[in-house]
Amino acid sequence: MTETQKSATLSLNGDTYELPIFSPTAGPDVLDIRKLYAQAGVFTYDPGFTSTASCDSTITYIDGGKGELLHRGYPIDQLASKSHYLEVCYLLLYGELPTAAQLEDFETRVTRHTMVHEQMHNFFRGFRRDAHPMATLVGVVGAMSAFYHDSLDVTDPWQREVAAIRLIAKLPTIAAMAYKYSIGQPFVYPRNDLDYAANFLHMCFSVPAEEYHVNPILSRAMDRIFILHADHEQNASTSTVRLASSSGANPFACIAAGIACLWGPAHGGANQACLEMLKEIGSVDRIPEFIERAKDKNDPFRLMGFGHRVYKNTDPRAKVLKQSADEVLELLGVEDNPLLQVAKELERTALNDPYFIEKKLFPNVDFYSGIILEAMGFPTSMFTPIFALSRTVGWISQWKEMIADPQNKIGRPRQLYLGETLRDYVDIEKR
Ligand code: SDX
Repeated sequence: MTETQKSATLSLNGDTYELPIFSPTAGPDVLDIRKLYAQAGVFTYDPGFTSTASCDSTITYIDGGKGELLHRGYPIDQLASKSHYLEVCYLLLYGELPTAAQLEDFETRVTRHTMVHEQMHNFFRGFRRDAHPMATLVGVVGAMSAFYHDSLDVTDPWQREVAAIRLIAKLPTIAAMAYKYSIGQPFVYPRNDLDYAANFLHMCFSVPAEEYHVNPILSRAMDRIFILHADHEQNASTSTVRLASSSGANPFACIAAGIACLWGPAHGGANQACLEMLKEIGSVDRIPEFIERAKDKNDPFRLMGFGHRVYKNTDPRAKVLKQSADEVLELLGVEDNPLLQVAKELERTALNDPYFIEKKLFPNVDFYSGIILEAMGFPTSMFTPIFALSRTVGWISQWKEMIADPQNKIGRPRQLYLGETLRDYVDIEKR
């Protein structure tokens, strides 16, 4: 992205500056301010990056007004209904849908990397049993840089590829180990005869004492949840991964940073917070009380799973998850799950409330996912680890794109300084 004919003129302190304008294949134009400070001696100011493009990318596009999400141009609802997670991984990583031969080779490479170094089992034993699985995930994924020394050099394309495959392959194993450790059950090794989603369910729910047969309904629902969480342009955790990798840090450390950021309740932690909120509401007749609390500026309570920085229309992932919740709960014979009824009535009430209409607040990806995951047998503490293992391919795809970008340089924002100006030290006896 170098040439452009368009520009914007900035008049400042009696001078004028031409700011090049770049036009995307989709979405808003961008003003190139890279030379602004050198030319005009001023910074731009945008806490929370509400109007700032941090990079260019070809991976994922979101149209917040339409409620559209594209991965390499393919809409998320088509991928969720027609594709499967490892095929979406291939698409995100390499830019095109694979041929049958390419897909088979990719699936074989991932399958053969699903086991973790045996010594990592000891690493888990250092955690308390009641540690949140996200705490374990951050620690163990970061520790992968202590075990896989042959894929740490980010300047080597082969090592970058191996690290990408290892992370996509091992995150389900590590997440399942974190779950097993938290409930005092033995770790379950991955099986090469199971597909990605079935393998994860097997590692989470099988026990040595008896045969475990993966329910194909749950396996398909699991795979769809993985697809729906795979990537989402420059969200907080992806931006964290990009910023960490801009210093040249190894891929395992960068993904551990992304997992840490995702944990927050304003981001990936919202799926756990949302289910806990639905349980606190408990019944549809308490919904008005919570809607009022969400609108009360003096009350820190927010509707978890609602609202989004980019979507000002329904999150297309929430639509698919709502349909999936109906299907999965009906197939499991729990369609009258009270939490699903509360969620649907809460959505209906909020979407008819002027506050939510005016602020364009809609259900997001975290609103229905927890209902499905709980029906599948997962505790709420495993919801965000599942989001993290799904999003690893998005983080890694964006990481690879950034590392390969010749314009890549360390991220180093500036600030609007409002502190003390220069002053001399005062000895303690004079204070
Ligand atoms: C994810 O970025 C991504 O793409 C993230 C993600 C991904 O796939 O990576 O999509 C995953 O993180 C989804 C979001 C999950 N978080 C939640 O569900 C938590 C609840 N939602 C909010 O905290 C909030 O909506 C955010 C954090 C999601 C977005 O916050 P913004 O864009 O900074 O918006 P804001 O906080 O400035 O809110 C705008 C207004 C405010 O009112 P005013 O100050 O203008 O009067 O809307 C209000 C907010 O108070 N508001 C809410 C609300 N969300 C925003 N009011 C009640 N309930 C809510 N959920």
